[in-house]
Amino acid sequence: MKVVRKISELRGLIQLEKNLGKKIGFVPTMGYLHEGHASLLSHARTENDVVILSIFVNPTQFGPNEDFDSYPRDFERDEKIASKEGVDYIFYPSVLEMYGDNATVSVVVKDRNDVLCGKSRPGHFDGVVTVVSKLFNIVNPSKAYFGKKDAQQLAIIQGLVRDLNFDIEIIGVDIKRELDGLALSSRNVRLSIEERENAPMLYECLKETRKMFEESNDLDNAIRSTKAKLMENQLGSLDYLEILSYPELKKPDKKTTTFIVAIAFRYSTVRLIDNIIFKKESEKMEIKNV
Ligand code: PAF
Repeated sequence: MKVVRKISELRGLIQLEKNLGKKIGFVPTMGYLHEGHASLLSHARTENDVVILSIFVNPTQFGPNEDFDSYPRDFERDEKIASKEGVDYIFYPSVLEMYGDNATVSVVVKDRNDVLCGKSRPGHFDGVVTVVSKLFNIVNPSKAYFGKKDAQQLAIIQGLVRDLNFDIEIIGVDIKRELDGLALSSRNVRLSIEERENAPMLYECLKETRKMFEESNDLDNAIRSTKAKLMENQLGSLDYLEILSYPELKKPDKKTTTFIVAIAFRYSTVRLIDNIIFKKESEKMEIKNV
């Protein structure tokens, strides 16, 4: 496994691999790897000849009051995990290497960024698609792997690849969970002991909301009753709980068959997200103003 910090060096190495007819699989991350990332890497390992992992905490996707500085980082630990997962190259650039000192162009998301995380994190997805476009242009892989925990990000990146004609297949990989149901996230390490004990309730709330919606066909009521329960939680505050169509991320209508129930919840220093994507016949559904 080789660690590469310069774009020009990585491009040279990838060209050599491509000259040998090798297929490149790419896993972009912000590091502090966990089992969820390991699962992305293991899919990439199975489906490609060469696996490239990028580790870059991208400043442009963090708002001014967000956790860019405190985002967990541990390159040595990441290197060990990457090596165990059979990564061939880790791309580990500096901010200066990625953006230079005078970036003049960025990519802007025009749809699906006014709901869920896009609503509470203005500009976040513009930062994501800008850095992902740059990484795609640098690595030029056949396939790129993203976790379904960031389901909105996955849908937006599918749109990026379609609309900007990247010849890359985007693979969405299922969410990995702790035994108690908490979705794996690099941010989980920043939960207090009390918050960590409380956090599995996010997945419980998602399951309950889905069940209620499936049983009653009443989307409004399903959301309202889980929200009421979440309001009683003293350890944090609800950012959003929504049921939308997926991957469109629109208010569902009678034709919708694939749904996402998604949550974001703020603890003292950490905001966690989770979701369930599910299919359902919706002809009988009650749709009010959720
Ligand atoms: O999902 C992430 O870790 C990041 O948003 C990504 C895709 C690596 C872009 O910085």
